[in-house]
Amino acid sequence: QGTSQGFAHAKAILFGEHAVVYGSPAVAVPLHGLGVQADIRRSPHQETRIESQLFSGTAQTAPEPMGPVVAGLNAALKAVGDPDAEVELLIRSAIPHSRGLGSSAAVATSVARAVANLHSTAFDEETLHEIVQAAETVAHGRPSGIDAWAVAKPAPIRFQTGCAQTIDVGQRLVFVLADSGHHGSTAEAVGGVRARRDADPTRIGGMIDRLAALTDAAVDDIRSGDRATIGARMIEAHGLLGEIGVSTPTLDSLVDAATAAGARGAKLTGGGLGGCVLALADDDDSAEELAEALRKAGAPRTWTTEVRPT
Ligand code: PMV
Repeated sequence: QGTSQGFAHAKAILFGEHAVVYGSPAVAVPLHGLGVQADIRRSPHQETRIESQLFSGTAQTAPEPMGPVVAGLNAALKAVGDPDAEVELLIRSAIPHSRGLGSSAAVATSVARAVANLHSTAFDEETLHEIVQAAETVAHGRPSGIDAWAVAKPAPIRFQTGCAQTIDVGQRLVFVLADSGHHGSTAEAVGGVRARRDADPTRIGGMIDRLAALTDAAVDDIRSGDRATIGARMIEAHGLLGEIGVSTPTLDSLVDAATAAGARGAKLTGGGLGGCVLALADDDDSAEELAEALRKAGAPRTWTTEVRPT
């Protein structure tokens, strides 16, 4: 019995987190060096077994945190017309969870692709998205859907109200991602912004509008390859995210360390209140210096990733 594989990469939100919750656009970039691999084969036993860093055992006895994986697996098996299949599933993920990197969506995507490969087929984009959203709904309640698109598409995307479009990239962009070492609760961050917006709709609503305007302007900058302007907008976006209450002193100090080390721009990425900082470098050499500066400033780990011109 052969083993089939599926793969998916992590993602980072470049612009528009939080504003996207209110119908504004957001931009996400793929993190190609950081991913998940799922291996699947038909089970020689009368049961489905899952092995991952979190849990090893039968699907029936899987604890709650495995719920999204089981939901994604079942949705994928149903989509290939094999809902009662018993399988052995091995998941190996290099993506840290609760850092805004899309780990749950990437796991579900890798599993769905492995299931499709087991059936010598591939899901079209929409079907894959629906399967991953089924898993994401178990993981996050009411996900906007940006993660499910961003971990499946190889290029940067502009996402708005459920739809994703690939952005044509005018110039190579090199990013350094730095882990703050702290988990970020997206649900808590989103709830906090909503409460502050309800309390002061003019001020917070205005900031959300400004975040939306930055996102749209940045899409044009990515197309034209205007690195300096993208960086300046990242710095402005980070300030606004701080004002709506989702930054932390650790995130602020990593952003400061990045700009002091020559980053074009830097900002928190994703829900905030922990998680990661994304910094834009000039080239590979400056990315290396930037990564070193960020680790010196306290980031337990950094990753470098590039977005290639179309
Ligand atoms: O922390 P992440 O990467 O899952 O991103 C959350 C993005 C938010 O806009 C804060 C919430 C959402 O559902 O889009």
